[in-house]
Amino acid sequence: MDTAVVIVGAGPAGLLLSHLLHRDGIPSIVLESRTREEVESTIRAGILEQGTVDLLVETGASERVLVDGQRHDGIELQFAGGSHRIDFARLVGRAVYLYPQHEVLKDLVERRLADSGDVRFGWAVESVTDVETSPRVVGTDTNGRPFELTADFVIGGDGSRSVTRAAVVGSMTGGYFREYPFAWFGILCEAPPSSDELIYANSPEGFALISQRSATVQRMYLQCDPEQDPAAWSDAQIWDMLQARVEGRTLVEGPIFQRDVLRFRSFVAHAMRKGRALLVGDAAHTVPPTGAKGMNLAINDVRILHESLAAFYRGAGEELLDRYEERALRRIWRAQHFSWWMTSMLHSTPDASDFDRRRQLGELEGVVASKVGSSYLAEAYTGWPHD
Ligand code: DHB
Repeated sequence: MDTAVVIVGAGPAGLLLSHLLHRDGIPSIVLESRTREEVESTIRAGILEQGTVDLLVETGASERVLVDGQRHDGIELQFAGGSHRIDFARLVGRAVYLYPQHEVLKDLVERRLADSGDVRFGWAVESVTDVETSPRVVGTDTNGRPFELTADFVIGGDGSRSVTRAAVVGSMTGGYFREYPFAWFGILCEAPPSSDELIYANSPEGFALISQRSATVQRMYLQCDPEQDPAAWSDAQIWDMLQARVEGRTLVEGPIFQRDVLRFRSFVAHAMRKGRALLVGDAAHTVPPTGAKGMNLAINDVRILHESLAAFYRGAGEELLDRYEERALRRIWRAQHFSWWMTSMLHSTPDASDFDRRRQLGELEGVVASKVGSSYLAEAYTGWPHD
């Protein structure tokens, strides 16, 4: 055996699991095909549930989240020319934090390296085998030389194109799957914030989301065609579309320095465990980005898997490992529903009829006009209590 646990992927899930195992004295090796710079600079979502922040802080994974993260006590829903605040603090007594995923990654990498953690950037995994007995991980290292590692467990935290998934599920695509006829055009721009809180806008022109990053950088998204070329629109065109979609408000414009198109998918793998191989995060499931559940779900998988592995190494057997999938799936399917619901309530579909459009506005009205309706949204958005 080369180590107790080989973790494929240095995303938030893989790095946090490695950190939590380290605290219990359980060694692990993290293998990541990208460079540290790529990992730390990839732009992803920015919202952390209260429970995610608590876990990062309580386990010493990040202190910076409470210093540099911004607490948000609500969001705005805009539709039919009106704006409606969902007051998380009043409805459910919880909050979320705006703290981008790449900042979480920087904190986790720093923590792991400060604790002499074994994180190998530029190590590409090609296959995972022998998962029923003693897992074997094969690939090429930073210098392109072949490597082979064996461990008690292999954990796939290697994202939506997971190599580990093939070993667990039997194929790359084995799962429950849904596609959407739209995507998000995301921008980062140099400008002061246009709003203190996030704005989710359903407009006749399509969806827009106004998010923030800092006093000088903002993140915004607008619904687009999945085939949209990120380079095809001028800054002026992008601003015109964004302005048209946030009715009754004027966004502060500034130079756009990053643009990307995010495809939408819902996916849950047919299995999260086979023998000694287990999946966490995007390797096991993907949600559309509306509602910002992706990283939070990954962190929840890790919370449960860490408990299960810690019990195993304490000599308590495999009972918790046997329950890992069932426990994780409960939250995963709740979040699948929430992300699908937010997406379908806020976006326009190319084939929507007048009836569909009015029904959608009726649904939004039902949420904002009712304490029960808005509490459902607030509870899901800030994160359900953990089991
Ligand atoms: C962000 C992304 C989301 O998907 C979301 O629902 C809210 C915020 C963001 O990148 O800031």
